[in-house]
Amino acid sequence: MTTENLKELVEKMTLEEKAAMCSGADFWHTEAVERLGIPASMVSDGPHGLRKQNEEGDHLGVNESIKAVCFPAGCGTAASFNRELLTKMGEVIGNECQAEGISVILGPAVNIKRSPLCGRNFEYYSEDPLVATEIAGALIKGVQSKNVGTSIKHFLANNQETRRMSSDSRVDERTLNEIYLAAFEGAIKKQKPWTVMCSYNKINGVYAAENYQYLTETLRNKWGFDGYVMSDWGAINNRVGDLKAGLDLEMPTSLGANDKLIVEAVQNGELEESVLDTAVERILNIVFRFEENRDKDATWNKDEDHEMARKVAEETIVLLKNEENILPLSEKENIAFIGKYAKTPRYQGGGSSHINSHKITSALDEVSGMSNIVYAQGYIDEEDKTDEKLLAEAIETAKNAKYAVIFAGLPDAFESEGFDREHMAMPNCQNELIAKVAEVQPNTIVVLHNGSPIEMPWIDKVKGVLEAYLGGQAVGGAVCDILFGKVNPSAKLPETFPLKLEDNPSYLSYFGEGDMVEYREGIFVGYRYYDKKKMDVLFPFGYGLSYTTFAYSNLTVDKENMKDTDMLSVSVDVTNTGSMAGKEVVQLYVGDKESTVIRPVKELRDFAKVELAPGETKTVTFILDKRAFAYYNVELHDWHVESGEFDILIGKSSRDIVLSKNVTVESTVKIPFVYTTDTTVGDIMKNPEAWAIAKPLMSQGLFGDDKSNAEGDAASEAMSDEMMEAMLRYMPLRGPVSFQGNVSMADVQKVVDRLNALEQ
Ligand code: BGC
Repeated sequence: MTTENLKELVEKMTLEEKAAMCSGADFWHTEAVERLGIPASMVSDGPHGLRKQNEEGDHLGVNESIKAVCFPAGCGTAASFNRELLTKMGEVIGNECQAEGISVILGPAVNIKRSPLCGRNFEYYSEDPLVATEIAGALIKGVQSKNVGTSIKHFLANNQETRRMSSDSRVDERTLNEIYLAAFEGAIKKQKPWTVMCSYNKINGVYAAENYQYLTETLRNKWGFDGYVMSDWGAINNRVGDLKAGLDLEMPTSLGANDKLIVEAVQNGELEESVLDTAVERILNIVFRFEENRDKDATWNKDEDHEMARKVAEETIVLLKNEENILPLSEKENIAFIGKYAKTPRYQGGGSSHINSHKITSALDEVSGMSNIVYAQGYIDEEDKTDEKLLAEAIETAKNAKYAVIFAGLPDAFESEGFDREHMAMPNCQNELIAKVAEVQPNTIVVLHNGSPIEMPWIDKVKGVLEAYLGGQAVGGAVCDILFGKVNPSAKLPETFPLKLEDNPSYLSYFGEGDMVEYREGIFVGYRYYDKKKMDVLFPFGYGLSYTTFAYSNLTVDKENMKDTDMLSVSVDVTNTGSMAGKEVVQLYVGDKESTVIRPVKELRDFAKVELAPGETKTVTFILDKRAFAYYNVELHDWHVESGEFDILIGKSSRDIVLSKNVTVESTVKIPFVYTTDTTVGDIMKNPEAWAIAKPLMSQGLFGDDKSNAEGDAASEAMSDEMMEAMLRYMPLRGPVSFQGNVSMADVQKVVDRLNALEQ
């Protein structure tokens, strides 16, 4: 529908109809206005499959939804580092939505993993905003290519479940921009999601739903978002204020109560009707975009989509350890599959993303025809204490086999939407099982099913570890494909696994005090912190092994000196030096070598996944723009690059940098230096012209003479500029006023004025 037609339609609506259009008709539908031909439009969770509820609606995944296909959750799909794969997965989900008449799927969820404890980490992508936004963008691209909308969520700074509907995320401007907004920014600017879902929490004292600064100034004015903003389910706190801030659609329904408030506010002049009209236009624009592009012939084949879920899962499983190349296993060996999750894998998380899977393939199902594989349950899922009988049985079974593969991880009760984890440990019974099996079976491999980092007290006792994350309903097949080498693992960790929870940068302030949650670690989230502190970690960001080996060579940059407005082209050759075809995630980090602001050692600025046959070489090229070198400057309220040298680093992980180059970047933006009476000698000396102006004042005031004067006494002559700088570096311009009595504040101010004139 054209903008003109939309406006005409809105003009025909009554005030009451318009107000009603701004909240759901029920749990999942927007309002219909039959007399004007406006249809109801259905939205549905998401994000990794459909949770379409035909009957009783709820936002916690409690009631039944239709049978659907559960793809790997966000924790895993991010680990694929594969944009094309995510786009294909999005296309499949988009088609499912078309077939089911769903106009908008509620996702992707891009909130940053500030702490391993967040109950919803399984749904989120990464501790790094670039990974989060690129992976989300790729999924959005796929879904929306089918003329179905997405709702990137939860905007903004929603990084814990504790008090999720009232907590107040206190985040400084630079951190918000570099980390938390950045997770949304790229996907919103590049892939234009049809909708955005605002979060429950406050940001610096203002509810997300009522936050004009982020909903309107940032989202629309800065980033050009042109869809509608919907509330998270029940996130509305002040309907009229929210509407003014840019919150268009309230979900689910307020059963008319908030519609009445809107009508009254227009009638009594508190709300301009044009604000309401704009919101209605935005909503109807999307309603009709879907309606007019309905694929009436769309059908979906759940078994085919299950195969796609398996393909995706194959790229989301990270090989964390492979001592003595214990993997892949031969299918002919005697192998013990140990652990409940071999039979009933934990493959998704609890809450609003919970899918009613049409079928589930476990690892045991996958090997059902293989008599050389035996099974022992080992532990009771959802329990923290050891079942001695099951443990003894498992040890016996493992001992008699050539290899033991233990399927372990986190039970549903340990991580879910709605509450946070209390610690980073796996259930004791599972840790004990792994340790005891490893004692009798030297060839032990652990397959993990969990949505966020765990401690691995047994890591030195086992030879292999596969992090399968929450791999969706086809995970069992995918795990077996990797165990037996039909697929070469190619995923990398999109988050750091710290050695212990206390190492995490948010540890001291994570849950906050009451509702107040201060993000005290600032920009130092994940590897940005561990790197700066040179800390040992269990597994670093970007880490993951393969059954083949890759060599990197020929790192080239197309220029060594550039302006911050130039593009830099970076190329590197990657060769598969092993004997198996495989995929490698090439990671490009940039570090500012010297900076006046506190910055991370390096930050991921791009990545690419390449597929290589044995012996094959491919050249990977990255194009970097200003943002790759910039930090967010809070004086400019904009991104800024400081002139100087930068490291261009190519890594196999954040801790395995294999090649590097230097480039010098010249800033085209001059931030005027503002001199005051508090400016220090050290800062003035950075500019020789400025120092020439200030030096006589300092000499006179501190030593009773003008040291720049050739007739000055021997002591001050003997003092070199270097010595003077070292001794007086932190002396403010006003300092001399207190010493010889021959310099007044007025003298100092005159110098300050002359210095500031230099900056004009
Ligand atoms: C969740 C959203 C979800 C919505 C609808 C909320 O509780 O935070 O992610 O889309 O419910 O189920």
